[in-house]
Amino acid sequence: MRNAFGDRPGPYVIGHRGAAGYAPENTMVSFERGIALRADAIELDIHPTSDGQLVVIHDPTLERTTNGHGFVSTHSLAEIQALDAGSWFDPSFQNVRVPTFREVLEWARGRTKVVVEIKQGPIFYPAIEEMMIAVLDQAQMRGEVLVISFDHHSVRKVKQLAPEIATGVLYAGRVIDPVGLALAAQADALMPYWPLLTKEEVAAAHAAGLLIGPWGGAEQNYEYILATGVDAVLADFPDHPRTVIEQQQAAGR
Ligand code: G3P
Ligand code: CA
Repeated sequence: MRNAFGDRPGPYVIGHRGAAGYAPENTMVSFERGIALRADAIELDIHPTSDGQLVVIHDPTLERTTNGHGFVSTHSLAEIQALDAGSWFDPSFQNVRVPTFREVLEWARGRTKVVVEIKQGPIFYPAIEEMMIAVLDQAQMRGEVLVISFDHHSVRKVKQLAPEIATGVLYAGRVIDPVGLALAAQADALMPYWPLLTKEEVAAAHAAGLLIGPWGGAEQNYEYILATGVDAVLADFPDHPRTVIEQQQAAGR
């Protein structure tokens, strides 16, 4: 199993879209906030622009998190960087920009690990995996990331192109054979939706040498999740699971 977190002791706290509960998601201010709150890694989402650059934004469209309109992939980098990606969250974040993937990696190098989610669908980006690896190479960050996706074809393609990159499969159901899901995608990690997580699933992942880290939003019950023995958690509020981890460690659990 490739572990993007190296020798750091777990369980790892991954700041979801940075610290999406505190700042406009997937922006530099959100990533800064995430590590200020002692996240071990920041998670981000990538889409390509019309001129072949990768930008960090969650949706395939611009409306929810910027003052732009339409698809990310039909806009140039310059057009996207002209948008306000902060005011929707709070006026105090006016004119915060959509960062490039390269920009975030350069900021993260030597500072924090990065969980990179490749977004696919309903528009499919046939070369996004090659584009992502090229940017990782420019930043010399192949060994510092965990690449994840709900598109398991993308996950498998990344591993086939670059076996040394740690990968994980996202999924949202209580699947019959989660280990088989990882094997089919040649992945190193399982990323299940947290309410359907079980101790048995965690044990099966560990028996197979897989890292397991569930995902979810602000509604997550970290006492429950961490009691299952997971290796990592995703958090909009990275201080919330950190508090639970420290309480459990103090109690000797
Ligand atoms: O990135 C992990 C998980 O949170 C996937 O869901 O919609 O937040 O990208 P989403
Ligand atoms: Ca994501």
